[in-house]
Amino acid sequence: MEHAEHVALIRGGVEGGGLEWIELGSGGGAFTLALADLLGPSGRITSVDRDRAALRRQGATLAAAFPATHVDYLEADFSRPLGLAARDGVLMANSLHFSRDQAAVLQQVGALLRPGGRLVVVEYDTDRGNHWVPHPLSYRSWERVSREAGFRDTRLLARRPGSGLAAIYSALSFGR
Ligand SMILES: C[S@@+](CC[C@H](N)C(=O)[O-])C[C@H]1O[C@@H](n2cnc3c(N)ncnc32)[C@H](O)[C@@H]1O
Repeated sequence: MEHAEHVALIRGGVEGGGLEWIELGSGGGAFTLALADLLGPSGRITSVDRDRAALRRQGATLAAAFPATHVDYLEADFSRPLGLAARDGVLMANSLHFSRDQAAVLQQVGALLRPGGRLVVVEYDTDRGNHWVPHPLSYRSWERVSREAGFRDTRLLARRPGSGLAAIYSALSFGR
């Protein structure tokens, strides 16, 4: 996927949703770049991943592409309390499917959002996992799982063909 496609997937969830975001499982930073692009130079991003090397690479890429955007990097496991203040939005792109206990992760995510804050997820549209994508959620399942976790007004943002497993979708939900 190209940068423009990453931007297109999350644009509808990010625009108009405040300037302070957390990305959980940011990896190489493909969607962090998209987030930085959409938020502009006033944006503030906390980029969380348990992979220190990926965060280091990502930091160099972000600094080159969007030097004015403030990005903090946190090496941590997002299934545990992160001790961060609540923000306007949380982005999880291709990262929720690594967690078996998604309800527990979503409880942590809810605590990271200001009232009415936004959760944007990017996932494979299937409920059948494999070695690389162990616990994906189809959009239909995401509607149920997000509702059970206390999120509301879940809506599909965009869908694009995936390379292999299934189509990829993005969805927006709102916190309490
Ligand atoms: C498939 S990569 C996706 C990276 C990026 N969001 C993207 O879409 O290009 C998944 C990332 O989530 C991270 N990750 C998975 N589970 C995690 C956890 N419990 N805590 C922190 N990071 C996690 C992995 O280290 C990896 O960098």
